[in-house]
Amino acid sequence: METKIKDISVFTTGENETRSIVFVHGFPFDHRMWDSQVAVLSKEYKCVTYDIRGLGQSPESDGQYTMESFVDDLENVMNGLGLVKPVLCGLSMGGYISLRAVERMEDKLSALILCDTKSTADDDQGKLKRAAGIKTINKDGSEKFVEQFVPNCFSESFMKENNAGYLKVLNRSKQNGAVGIKGCLLAMAGRTDTTAYLSKISIPTLIICGKEDKLTPPEVMKPMADQIKNSKFVVIENAGHMAPIEKAEVVTSSIQEFLQEKI
Ligand code: MLT
Repeated sequence: METKIKDISVFTTGENETRSIVFVHGFPFDHRMWDSQVAVLSKEYKCVTYDIRGLGQSPESDGQYTMESFVDDLENVMNGLGLVKPVLCGLSMGGYISLRAVERMEDKLSALILCDTKSTADDDQGKLKRAAGIKTINKDGSEKFVEQFVPNCFSESFMKENNAGYLKVLNRSKQNGAVGIKGCLLAMAGRTDTTAYLSKISIPTLIICGKEDKLTPPEVMKPMADQIKNSKFVVIENAGHMAPIEKAEVVTSSIQEFLQEKI
């Protein structure tokens, strides 16, 4: 089912009214990055995906986003659907949103799944990279930026061996407009560091990391897992930053196993 909640495009699959998972996608992608997980997990859980403001089918609005406004949108989705203690699963930028959401409202969640993400904020070099991205968009357009950014999100082997799958995601990402992409870049550059909260997280947490992730590699994610008391760390072989697409079945079974064990 497709619905609008405070103008955010939201998609629900699965009948279960008591157990739900909310998936938050990465940048500059959209809710369809979770299609493989939803196809399987919706047999047991109500699966909720949505497009982050500025991306996919959600409106660009004024393009002035913050990590706080992204969490507000997430909270509106959860409240609008009447979800009771959903599992929250976010990848990369979706992970930044999820980590801040846990810091703000852990009592409203039953478990956390963090895929290919980090708790630290952008350092100066990271902020300058965001600024350079905005400059590229202003000079050469958002498609150019997407063409430069997206290859870093996949392992070399996936791009070679599943080139059609890779191009599908790349072409979808190019549909996103400049205002939305620039707004997300600024929101990420301005996000807070959530590392201090990791040791306070008490809900069960699964940390998933593609072994070949160039943006948030295992050496960045393992220390995060070490700081979260009730956590499980899973490395996905032969996958990059987009592990849920690159190794969809392995990621889905890791999630399934974790939820069966902990929820
Ligand atoms: C993402 O996949 O969401 C981005 O790589 C996050 C980022 O640029 O920090």
